[in-house]
Amino acid sequence: MKIIINTAENIARQAAAQYQELLRGKPDAVLGLATGSTPLALYAELARLNQAGEISFARATSFNLDEYIGLPKGHPESYRCFMDRNLFSHIDIPLARTHVPSGADTSESAALAYEAEIERAGGLDLQLLGIGDNGHIGFDEPGTPFGSCTHCTALAASTREANKRFFSSLDEVPTHAVTMGIRTVMNARAIILIALGPNKAEALRATVLGEVTENVPASVLQLHPNVTIYADYEAAALLN
Ligand code: PGA
Repeated sequence: MKIIINTAENIARQAAAQYQELLRGKPDAVLGLATGSTPLALYAELARLNQAGEISFARATSFNLDEYIGLPKGHPESYRCFMDRNLFSHIDIPLARTHVPSGADTSESAALAYEAEIERAGGLDLQLLGIGDNGHIGFDEPGTPFGSCTHCTALAASTREANKRFFSSLDEVPTHAVTMGIRTVMNARAIILIALGPNKAEALRATVLGEVTENVPASVLQLHPNVTIYADYEAAALLN
């Protein structure tokens, strides 16, 4: 794993440069995208570069990691709305080529169809990840089998607690989600994981220096040949 430690601001720029390089060489790249607070600065930088004509998503395709189950269509905290608001409405990617799992159709066939669509698009060139305080990636919580593909899952209590800041109460935070599986993520040709802030320090330590275990989903990344981890100084505090 390549580990880059910098300020949050510089991380956004450095990670954006990785997208520029990818899309310059492969304009029709397939991007795996993430939600949460972590990618916001990167998305703002990608939007700035796009508007300055320094990157184009016009031929790109995207697949998001996950979506809540149970929110009404158009709910502002749904990950579809998050992506439209924070990235897609600011860049030139055709909306028809942006994919977010359906939180309404929780059938196994819908999960299989999401996997099939990723395959049909040629597979993920670059998957973006945040990391949960508990080491989750996507909504693959501790204990998720490494062999998992897209599936429905229950959110860990700590994940619901962490995400309640976006809702008016804990009761409103969905209890379940659809998420790409660990195998789906590991099939990406390259992976970027961004970790920001002191709450991520222990999870990042376990990911990078701990054993590879399903109890720390992100630790599986030790087995991937092309992972870049960007951590700010607070998230990286336990790495040496
Ligand atoms: P955050 O979430 O970016 O809001 O901290 C990351 C995650 O849970 O994967």
